[in-house]
Amino acid sequence: MAEKTGLRHIGIIMDGNGRWAERQGLIRTKGHLEGLKAAKRIVKAAADRGIAYLTLYVFSTENWKRTVSEVNFIMGLVKQYLKAELDFYRENHIRIRHTGDMEGLPPDIVKDLREAMADTGDFEGLQVVLALNYGGRDEIGRALTRLVKAGGEKLAAEKFGAEDLRPFLDNPDIPDPDLIIRTGGEWRISNFLLWEAAYSEFYVSSKLWPDWTPEDLDEAIENFQGRQRRFGGVKA
Ligand code: IPE
Ligand code: IPE
Ligand code: MG
Repeated sequence: MAEKTGLRHIGIIMDGNGRWAERQGLIRTKGHLEGLKAAKRIVKAAADRGIAYLTLYVFSTENWKRTVSEVNFIMGLVKQYLKAELDFYRENHIRIRHTGDMEGLPPDIVKDLREAMADTGDFEGLQVVLALNYGGRDEIGRALTRLVKAGGEKLAAEKFGAEDLRPFLDNPDIPDPDLIIRTGGEWRISNFLLWEAAYSEFYVSSKLWPDWTPEDLDEAIENFQGRQRRFGGVKA
């Protein structure tokens, strides 16, 4: 289904965990626990629907501003998820990847992330890209650093074109997202895939992330299928 409609890559800003918990009089961390369950549902659904790439915004470079206990809880969940889901990835041929700044992550998470990426590296089904310690501006900054390091003396004379940064992004082989979904009802990008989102279609769901179901994903996909993408051109 997905391939026929040109929907290869979906990015999701999984927002609303804290509000979900607060609405039921629970502490925010309970919302993250339910958010993890929703992420598992949606990963399975995306795999079943033949989506090639799913980028999940797990933790932004700005989310360190939260309390130590909330940050630690989220990191703990990530660790737990990476370890516990290996059989699931294997059964569903899911490949785990990462985007974001590895250097700023706790060493134990980096180790588990690297292991999950190595263990699933040969799987040819859905590729799940975990945006963890990710910021769009940070990614551009790190890409520039790599470019400068690779460029040597030629740099001073260069005039850069639109595509010249791509090879230095975190995952240059992954096509730009066709569709970016944000749950939780807010209409902003919050530093997600800034460079890659140049021509992405946007879809905002008012539902909070822990309430998201495969049916909501189907609705978003159906909505995407009704869009006319022109990429700056005119209708063919
Ligand atoms: C998204 O939910 C999860 C992360 C940013 C880690 P929030 O925790 O931002 O939930 P709200 O937006 O406060 O409801
Ligand atoms: C975006 O949500 C980051 C993630 C979902 C990981 P935030 O809750 O951090 O975004 P803002 O602060 O509302 O813009
Ligand atoms: Mg939020």
